[in-house]
Amino acid sequence: MASLLPAGVVTVAAYEPEWEEGLLDAEEPLVAGATYRRRREFAAARNCARRALAHLGVLDFPILAGEAREPLWPVGITGSITHGGGYCAAALAPVARVHSLGIDVTLNAPLPEEVHDLVCTPGELRRMATSAELDIPMLLFSVKESVYKAWYQIAGTWLDYLEVDVDLDLRESAFSARLLSPIAGKRDGLPSSFAGRFAVAPGHIFTAVSVPASTPAAG
Ligand SMILES: CC(C)(COP(=O)(O)OP(=O)(O)OC[C@H]1O[C@@H](n2cnc3c(N)ncnc32)[C@H](O)[C@@H]1OP(=O)(O)O)[C@@H](O)C(=O)NCCC(=O)NCCS
Repeated sequence: MASLLPAGVVTVAAYEPEWEEGLLDAEEPLVAGATYRRRREFAAARNCARRALAHLGVLDFPILAGEAREPLWPVGITGSITHGGGYCAAALAPVARVHSLGIDVTLNAPLPEEVHDLVCTPGELRRMATSAELDIPMLLFSVKESVYKAWYQIAGTWLDYLEVDVDLDLRESAFSARLLSPIAGKRDGLPSSFAGRFAVAPGHIFTAVSVPASTPAAG
């Protein structure tokens, strides 16, 4: 994941054998009543995030969650969390360097065909490439989850999969995502497009989006 993000972002990732258990007291209510699996992934990712925070000079900070489940970072820091398929990661940066971040890991498996047109815009379906290495609809799904995480932290509003149109550059393992939503460009400071990178490993697709601190206000 780290290689997908720009300088200044601190990324800490772990595969399941290295996962750390244990939460700070204030975080316990966030997984009260959760399944064993949910608690394990949550704790592993929170501990990755805490190690990243320590790199940024913040110790023992309880990472609570907002009303849409978004992680709440210390003032002056932004970041993103992902977990799944025996992997978890957290990417954090000072807001002076990065305005917002979104990271996602997903299984490198075919996205069921019956949801293609719920996830992919008509333009994406028309442009759909094929790859021996990865399932393109699943890649688009992961890209949109990364975009949503980065978007939500600065906009505080929901985005639907069909409100984002993604152009993939398979050769460069990069993408750009354009918001089709009417919200885009209507509020000062919100970006209307996102640039990111992806990587493929056996079993996983990783995507990451970062909005530079210097991104000009849209509209
Ligand atoms: C929120 C969502 C993106 C999480 O993705 P996921 O593949 O289920 O799970 P991941 O492990 O990758 O990410 C989960 C983490 O994302 C973070 N997250 C959850 N909601 C978030 C939000 N609104 N904004 C930013 N980050 C969020 C949390 O840290 C969460 O982990 P935690 O609950 O353990 O703290 C997904 O569940 C969802 O609701 N998607 C629908 C909205 C969407 O993606 N639209 C696409 C439009 S472009």
